[in-house]
Amino acid sequence: MSQTTTILRICLLLLASLACVLAQQDYYKTLGVSKSAGESEIKKAYRKLSRKYHPDKNSAPDAEEKFISISEAYEVLSDEDKRSIYDRYGHEGLKQHEQQGNRGGGHHNPFDMFSQFFGGGGRGPQERRGPDMQVRMDVELKHMFVGNYEEFTLPRKTLCDHCRGSGAASDSDIHTCKTCRGAGVTIQKAQIFPGMFTQMQATCNTCHGKGKTVAKPCPHCRGQKVVQSDNNLSFYLPPGAHEGFEMLFDGEADESPDWDIPGDVLVKVYAHKDAEWRRKDAGLYRREIIGVDEALLGFERNLTHLDGKTVRIARPGTTQPGHVDVIKGEGMPAHAHLPHGDLYIEYSVVMPSSVSDSTRDALEAVFAKTRSNRHRDEL
Ligand SMILES: *[C@@H]1O[C@H](CO)[C@@H](O)[C@H](O)[C@H]1NC(C)=O
Ligand SMILES: *[C@@H]1O[C@H](CO)[C@@H](O)[C@H](O)[C@H]1NC(C)=O
Ligand SMILES: [Zn+2]
Ligand SMILES: [Zn+2]
Repeated sequence: MSQTTTILRICLLLLASLACVLAQQDYYKTLGVSKSAGESEIKKAYRKLSRKYHPDKNSAPDAEEKFISISEAYEVLSDEDKRSIYDRYGHEGLKQHEQQGNRGGGHHNPFDMFSQFFGGGGRGPQERRGPDMQVRMDVELKHMFVGNYEEFTLPRKTLCDHCRGSGAASDSDIHTCKTCRGAGVTIQKAQIFPGMFTQMQATCNTCHGKGKTVAKPCPHCRGQKVVQSDNNLSFYLPPGAHEGFEMLFDGEADESPDWDIPGDVLVKVYAHKDAEWRRKDAGLYRREIIGVDEALLGFERNLTHLDGKTVRIARPGTTQPGHVDVIKGEGMPAHAHLPHGDLYIEYSVVMPSSVSDSTRDALEAVFAKTRSNRHRDEL
C-alpha cells in the first residue's frame, strides 16, 4: 500500500468514525454474531468478513466503509473490558471509558489490525490453517440448464462447544504437565563416557508435547475436543454452469484446536448422466429414434426440453440414419466463458422386427416399380 493511499484510508477512517457517532452501529449485528458469542466465534466472524470486505479484494463502493465498521466492531468485541462496557453502557459507555484515559492502545488502524490478525499477507506464518476439503457434487442436467439453488450437508468436525476445544470437563481439570513442567519437551541426559554427558531434547511422553494434561475429560466430546456435526451449505448454481463448476466455501472445512483457521471446502459440480440428453460444453445432444415410415415419409415431433419448453422438430422429406439436425440457440445458456449453445439431434432409424404379408406385397410392388425405373435414389 502506498503512503498516499494509507493517508487517504486514515482520512476515510476518521470520516467513518464521525459517521458512526451519527448512526451508531450494533457491533454484534455488524459481525453477525449473537450477544452470547464466544471469543472464537467473534474471531471467526472477523476473519471471514474482513477478508470479504477488504478494499484490496472487494471493489464494491461501500466495501471500505463496511471493512472499517467490521474492524471497529471486532476491536471492541474482542477486548473483554471494552465488550463488557459496551454490553452494559453501549457506545456512550465506551466513549467515557476512553475519555477517562483507558484507551487500551487507542483506536487501531483497521488495515494494521487486519495485517496483524492475518500475520502479514493474508495468511501469515502465525496463522495455522487446517486442511482443505474437496467435494464432488452431481446434479441433474436440468439444474445446470435452468439454474438451481443447491443445498447440501457435509459432515464436519467442529470444536466442542462444551469445552471450547480444550477436551477437559472444566478449566480446573487442565493441569500443567508435571513431567515437563509445561514445556512440552523433556531433557534427557545420557552418559557417553564416564563423567561426560549429552543432553537430548525429546517430546514429553506424558502430554505429547502439549505441556498440559487433562485430569477429567469433557463428557460432551469425551476429551476429543471436537464433535461430529452437520454442515449445511448452499449456493446458487447459475444457468449454463460448466461441467466442473467450482464453488469455494471459505473456512468451512474441519475445525480443530490444532489450527487457527479451518481450511476451505471446494465443491465441484458435474451433471448426472442423463438418459436422453448429453452435454458437451455449450452444446446439447440427443438421439431421436424414428421408424422406417418416418424416415421415408417425413414426420413432425414435439420434444420437451430440459426446462419443460416444447421444441418442435419437423422433417418433411426423408431422413438418413445418423443425420444430425442443428437447432440454433436451443443448447445450454451462456455462462462465463461458454457462449449460448445449440441443440444437436441425431436420428436413428429402427427397422420393424417383422413385416406382415400384406405389407410385404405392397412393398414388393413399390420396389419392383423402382427397379424397373432404375432410379436407385428415388422411390
Ligand atoms: C441441516 O440440514 C438438516 C437436513 O436438511 C436439518 O435436519 C438440520 O436441522 C440442519 N442443520 C442446521 C444447523 O441448520
Ligand atoms: C406440437 O405442438 C403444437 C402446438 O403446441 C401442436 O399444434 C402440434 O399438433 C404438436 N405436434 C405433435 C406432433 O404433437
Ligand atoms: Zn468437549
Ligand atoms: Zn509434558
